[in-house]
Amino acid sequence: MKLEIGSGNKPKKGYVHFDIREGIGADIVGDARKLPFKDNEFEEVYSRFFLEHLQRKDAVLALKEMFRVLKKGGRLEIIVPNIAYFCKLFVEEKGQKKEWALNKIYGFEHYKEDHHFFGYDEEILSKILKESGFVEIKRTEEEEQYLRLTAKKP
Ligand SMILES: C[S@@+](CC[C@H](N)C(=O)[O-])C[C@H]1O[C@@H](n2cnc3c(N)ncnc32)[C@H](O)[C@@H]1O
Repeated sequence: MKLEIGSGNKPKKGYVHFDIREGIGADIVGDARKLPFKDNEFEEVYSRFFLEHLQRKDAVLALKEMFRVLKKGGRLEIIVPNIAYFCKLFVEEKGQKKEWALNKIYGFEHYKEDHHFFGYDEEILSKILKESGFVEIKRTEEEEQYLRLTAKKP
């Protein structure tokens, strides 16, 4: 079984979809800070553009929950905006690109949960993954705008 956290309107095929919002087709509705799953249940946890929606201490809680529900040797894949890229864009650009950078830093505010409470670069994200117990933390795709990191539960 594979789990997607914060699946929103773009659920990834082949995963159990988990989100805090009702009415958007999630298989299970709930808060990622306390997952309603048993320990060691999933072989993979995937999460795209979700972690930045949590305050820093809550992001650590959510990562620890992802760790808990993963099987030993299970894989985590996590994608977030690269705040270093968007801060640079904000400082260097004007007009629409500058607005886009602001939205990527603070959130688009399309719905109640659509705020960003924290930002990550590779160093910061790797650090909290490590603090949450993950090993073999790797950046798998060098897209400057986004960070795609994979990690394992030992
Ligand atoms: C920007 S959307 C990302 C949707 C999708 N993963 C994508 O890549 O487009 C962030 C999602 O995280 C969800 N979310 C925010 N806080 C949450 C929480 N505490 N627990 C679970 N889901 C949450 C929101 O409802 C939203 O659907």
